[in-house]
Amino acid sequence: MPEPMSEQTHKILIVDDEQNMRVALFEALSRNGHEVAVAENGGMALEMIARNPPELVITDIKMPGMDGLELLRQIKVLRPELPVVIMTGFATVDTAVEAMKQGAFDYLLKPFPVEVIEETVARVFALARRLVQPSTRPLVQKAGEAVALEKPIIGQNPKLLQLMARARSVASSKATVLILGESGTGKEVFARFIHQESGRRNGPFVALNCAALPEGLLESELFGHEKGAFTGAIITKKGKFELADGGTLLLDEIGELPLHLQAKLLRVLQEEEVDRLGGRAPFKIDVHVLATTNRDLEQAVKEGVFRQDLYYRLNVIPLKLPPLRERREDVGMLVDFFVRKYAAQYGKPVKKPSSAVWARFADYGWPGNVREMENLIERAMLLSQGHELELWDFWDDVEPPSRIETTATVVSQACGQSAVAMANTSAAMDVGMQTLREVERQMILQALQANDNNRTHAAEILGISVRTLRNKLHEYRSQGMID
Ligand SMILES: Nc1ncnc2c1ncn2[C@@H]1O[C@H](COP(=O)(O)OP(=O)(O)OP(=O)(O)O)[C@@H](O)[C@H]1O
Ligand SMILES: [Mg+2]
Repeated sequence: MPEPMSEQTHKILIVDDEQNMRVALFEALSRNGHEVAVAENGGMALEMIARNPPELVITDIKMPGMDGLELLRQIKVLRPELPVVIMTGFATVDTAVEAMKQGAFDYLLKPFPVEVIEETVARVFALARRLVQPSTRPLVQKAGEAVALEKPIIGQNPKLLQLMARARSVASSKATVLILGESGTGKEVFARFIHQESGRRNGPFVALNCAALPEGLLESELFGHEKGAFTGAIITKKGKFELADGGTLLLDEIGELPLHLQAKLLRVLQEEEVDRLGGRAPFKIDVHVLATTNRDLEQAVKEGVFRQDLYYRLNVIPLKLPPLRERREDVGMLVDFFVRKYAAQYGKPVKKPSSAVWARFADYGWPGNVREMENLIERAMLLSQGHELELWDFWDDVEPPSRIETTATVVSQACGQSAVAMANTSAAMDVGMQTLREVERQMILQALQANDNNRTHAAEILGISVRTLRNKLHEYRSQGMID
C-alpha cells in the first residue's frame, strides 16, 4: 500500500461513462485519503455539484449525451472557480486543447499511470492553497496604463530593427502610417508599438476591421450617428474616430473600404474633424490614424477600386513587415518567447523543442508567419507530456511512439484486474526485456478482450496507433503466440 500523498482530504468528483475507469480512479484517490464521488454522465455530475460541491472535478471528454467539454462549459458558468481536469484519448487530443482554452486546469492523456493522476491532483490543491481567492485570474487588460508593452516585438533581424526605429520616429508625428505585410507578420503588434511609443500612450487605442462589416454599418461605426439619423438609429452612437480621440485609430484592411467611405475618410484626415451621420455640424478630433492591408493598394488604384489621393496620403510612411521565412534568425527568439509565455499562462514548466523539432523549424515555410508559430507553440505546450517539445506535440501527422511501457497500471485497472494482479504486473515490468515484451502482449490482448476485439478502441486505450496494434498482432501471430 503506498503512503497517502497529500496530508489533506479533498472532495473530488470523477465523471466517466466507463465503469472500469470510475472504479480505478475512485480506488486510487480514496487510497490517498480523498473523499471521492463518481458520476456516470454530465447531467448527473451537474446535479451532484449543485447539491454537494466538490473541490475538483475530473471528467472524461467522450461521453454519450453531455460530453466533457460541455460539462466544463457549464461548470465554468455555474462555478468558475472550481478546477476541472479532463481526460482524453489520443484521438481527441484537439478537444483537449479546446478544453484548456476554455479554462480546464489540466488534461490527462489516457491511458495514464496512477502516479500521474495523483501528481495532478496534488498540483491542483497546491495551487489552490497559494491563491488567496481562487477565482482571481490575472487581468490581462491594463487599459490606459503606460506599462511595459503587453505585446513586445521580438526579433533581431536587421530589417525588423530598422522598421522599429522608423516606427518609433513616426510615433511622435501625426503622419498616417500604412503597415503592410502578410497575415500574421505583426501588423497589429507594430500599430500598438507606435501607440505606446507616442505621446498618446495614455489615450485610447481603437481598432476597426474594415473588411468585417457591411458598408452601411461600417460608415456609422467609423463616424457615428445621431439618434434618428436612419431607421434603427434609436440612440446616438459615437464612431471609432470619436472613441479614439486623443489616441490612435487602427484601420485594418483599409483596402476593403468602399469608395465613398474612402472619400469621407480622406476628408476626415485632411480636416481633422468628423461629422456623425445625421449630425448638424462637424467637430474637431485629434487622432493618429494607422492602417494595414494585405492587398496590393497600388494595383487597387490601377483597377480604380482605391482612390489615388487616399493612397498617397496613407503611403507617406509605409512599414513593410517581412514574412517570417525571410527572417529565420528570429525563429529561436520567438520560440523562446512563446514557450515562456505559455508556460506562464498554463502553469507548466518551460520546455525546449527537441532537436528534431528545430530541424523541422529550420526549413519550414511559416505560411501563417508569427501567428502560426504562436499557435503551434501554444498547442505543443498544452500537449507536451515529456521533458522536451516533440514533433508530435506540434504536428498531427507525426505519431508519438508507443507509450506502452508506462501504462501497465491503469490499463490493468481499466481492464478490471484486481489490485493483486496489478501489483504482479508492475513487478513483472521490472524484471527485464523479455518480461516487458510479455507484459506488452498481455496488455494488448487484455485491451482487445475488454473492448470486444474492437481494435480502434483497444488502440486508443493503449495509447498506440491502430497500425502499431495491427503490426503487433501480426508479430504474435507469426510467432504462433495467438491464432
Ligand atoms: N515580432 C513579434 N514578436 C512577438 N509576437 C509577435 C510578433 N509578430 C507577431 N506576433 C504575434 O503574432 C500574432 C499575430 O500578430 P498580428 O495580429 O500583429 O498580425 P497581423 O499582421 O495583424 O495579422 P493579420 O493580417 O492576420 O491581421 C499576435 O499574437 C502577435 O502577438
Ligand atoms: Mg491584424
